[in-house]
Amino acid sequence: MDAASRSSPATPSSPSSSTSSLTSPASSPIQSAAPCLGDALAADVCRAHEAPLGPDSLQDPLTGVRRRTMLIAGSACAAGSGFALEAQAQVPNPRPPASQEALMATSQVTLTVNGQTQTLSLDNRTSLLDALREHLRLTGTKKGCDHGQCGACTVLLDGRRINACLTLAVLHDGAQVTTIEGLGTPEKLHPLQAAFIKHDGYQCGYCTPGQICSATAVLDELKAGMPSHVTADLNVRPLLSADELRERMSGNICRCGAYSNIIDAITEVAGRPA
Ligand code: FES
Ligand code: FES
Repeated sequence: MDAASRSSPATPSSPSSSTSSLTSPASSPIQSAAPCLGDALAADVCRAHEAPLGPDSLQDPLTGVRRRTMLIAGSACAAGSGFALEAQAQVPNPRPPASQEALMATSQVTLTVNGQTQTLSLDNRTSLLDALREHLRLTGTKKGCDHGQCGACTVLLDGRRINACLTLAVLHDGAQVTTIEGLGTPEKLHPLQAAFIKHDGYQCGYCTPGQICSATAVLDELKAGMPSHVTADLNVRPLLSADELRERMSGNICRCGAYSNIIDAITEVAGRPA
């Protein structure tokens, strides 16, 4: 027996009449299949579960529809809508939108890293830090915050220090980059590396490559007479004081708190007793 013939001639208060309205066929051929499926499910489920109305049935006095009937019908419709959404999601997207294609663009980038020329094919969004660590396997440069806040990723770019996590590699095509691996080797340490060891300028060592690269640039900045925020007189060469060093190294965070020993190490390399 089909759904229509099973529907009883309804009185306004009959639960069957409200149910039959749920089972009416779609009025248009382009109407979504999901509501129809939901309606049919709801009607069948309702018929299977309906019992004669008792005095304590939760029946709407205006429509005559019982609360349980409405709940079941609502659930079935929601499930039907879910099928439709899933079917929509499975329609393959033939090609990404133009904005996504632009994001996925790659570029050839040539860098001279620690004296060696390297040409890389990089996603344009690759940071200099990731180019060094992930593409050139120079993992001496550390990723701490990846947000320009800790200084662990400091390298020298054309002789000046920079947070490698905050700049894109494609912006530096043709640049010279020096990482901790290019400053010294275990056999021939850079003077700052030796001084950090001598003065216990580290504990876990995670910040140390960035500290040493930064300190290398600080000594060059002082030699060049570049003032800092704490330089009292901008017309004279800045002093090599602990205050100057602390200010200039303030972008390099050490979670182990080896700051005073780091200052001692830099001071000694700068030519003054620590
Ligand atoms: S990792 Fe670059 S500043 Fe922290
Ligand atoms: S030595 Fe551990 S963070 Fe600096």
